[in-house]
Amino acid sequence: MERYTSLSSHPNDVELGHTEAKTRDLRISPPGLRRASSLSRRKQERTRRIAAGAGVAVVLLLLVWSFGGGRRDERREEFGPPASLVRVGARTGTVPNATTLLTPAAPARSYFDALRPDLRYLTIDTWSGWSGQFLTVLSQLYLAHLTQRVAIIPSFRDADHYGDSMITPDLLMDFEKFRRERGALFVYWDDVKPLDRVHATTKRDEIGCYMGNNAFEGGRSFDEHNLEQTIWRVPRPGGWLQNTVEALTLFDFDEEDRLKRLHKFADKEKRDIPRNMLDSQVLCYSNLWDLAHAGAQANGWAWYEGFRGHQKEDGELKDMLAISARGTHPEWWAVGQYIDFAPGIWEIALNATYHSLRLDYVPKNLITIHLRRGDFKSWCDAGENCTPTVDRYVEKLEPLLDLSPPATKILVTTDEQDDADFLGAIDALGWYRVDHRALGTMQILEERYGDAARWADAVVDQAILSLGAHFVGTSGSQVSLLTELRVAAWNGGETRLVERPS
Ligand SMILES: *[C@@H]1O[C@H](CO)[C@@H](O)[C@H](O)[C@H]1NC(C)=O
Ligand SMILES: *[C@@H]1O[C@H](CO)[C@@H](O)[C@H](O)[C@H]1NC(C)=O
Repeated sequence: MERYTSLSSHPNDVELGHTEAKTRDLRISPPGLRRASSLSRRKQERTRRIAAGAGVAVVLLLLVWSFGGGRRDERREEFGPPASLVRVGARTGTVPNATTLLTPAAPARSYFDALRPDLRYLTIDTWSGWSGQFLTVLSQLYLAHLTQRVAIIPSFRDADHYGDSMITPDLLMDFEKFRRERGALFVYWDDVKPLDRVHATTKRDEIGCYMGNNAFEGGRSFDEHNLEQTIWRVPRPGGWLQNTVEALTLFDFDEEDRLKRLHKFADKEKRDIPRNMLDSQVLCYSNLWDLAHAGAQANGWAWYEGFRGHQKEDGELKDMLAISARGTHPEWWAVGQYIDFAPGIWEIALNATYHSLRLDYVPKNLITIHLRRGDFKSWCDAGENCTPTVDRYVEKLEPLLDLSPPATKILVTTDEQDDADFLGAIDALGWYRVDHRALGTMQILEERYGDAARWADAVVDQAILSLGAHFVGTSGSQVSLLTELRVAAWNGGETRLVERPS
């Protein structure tokens, strides 16, 4: 299993034929540093530009231009979660981590030996691809925060998409920065009990998990840590609101009621209760993907609508409520928005962005578009022509262009690599398309991430898409969903989703 270690950074080896771009350092610095260095870089660039001007007229023009702020306003100097949001922080230097949140025996042959008796823990298994697993961990971290538990984050595994490679999410996202800045309490299963894929070196431990908030229960990584998972569909109080965050929180804290329900269920089903369920130390759910507050569910919202657009789609009250107050995706507003991409991902994503736009900076006014095809091509009743045409994206883009200055660039990512007509239609619109084949992105990812390259590949486009001041995505795509949330939270942008033909 690979852990995120920061990659040594190289001077940009780009082929822009442009000395400035060749020497530009792509390292992503902490936000404060980033601003200082970009200011001095901007000053240097301006000086150089003026010196290069042949005549007085050119110099004057440049001066008027830079004092007018034209160029300065166009450049974007910071990426990821805005620095101003980062303010909570734990006591400097004492952020609890695996050393303090577990016993000295950790990682242990049995997980019970790794857990501190005075702490409560919350865990889940993973499900779905990168985006689904990441979203599930956000829900886990949110519920752990509300219920004052330490999250034990699962190892990520998805043989369907990424081969046999297993990772922890900090390989691709900056979880350590999140821990440091927000004081979130979490460890990884690796910290608790080592990966033991053939069950040779550790003890087989039982772990009983209550049903989560939706029907997806096929966990993928517990067995790799030699955990025998059983799922317990014990009814929670709360009636038809039993899958809300509030119901899950009360279910946790009302231990007496929970254990009464558990014993009744076990008697009825004639099952033996796993040790972890007999008290409140380790709570496990089968899945927590896509949490919602009672306020959202009381209005008829359900998890399967989570794929739809989140802004200005239906209902007047929904329009009036701030997006963060609608009760859907509370885990994003409480947790997800603070988790940045890892520096190594930013490096590759920014490089691809510069090359695709043929610029040496990221413009502030940029609209990103995600055209998701892949298995969506045959995923409808008709079984073919199931993905929207490029025209549908143009329609959704138009109102966003009205919000943007003239000459705003459109940057497109798509998983389509072969359909020449489709790709030609994008290029004919004058949109800029990230062509990873031409950029050789996979080769770089393989050099740096080895077996985990395909996991990293899933994340690079998300970092690129997050640079949009506004965004158009594809309905039903978790990448589009995450990008909507990022563009809304990080850039204050508007987003639209193109519905797929039914
Ligand atoms: C936890 O933090 C302490 C203090 O900063 C550090 O010495 C230790 O190595 C950290 N443990 C892990 C597992 O990162
Ligand atoms: C940046 O892009 C260029 C052109 O595709 C490529 O040759 C180079 O390896 C890339 N570097 C990184 C760090 O992604």
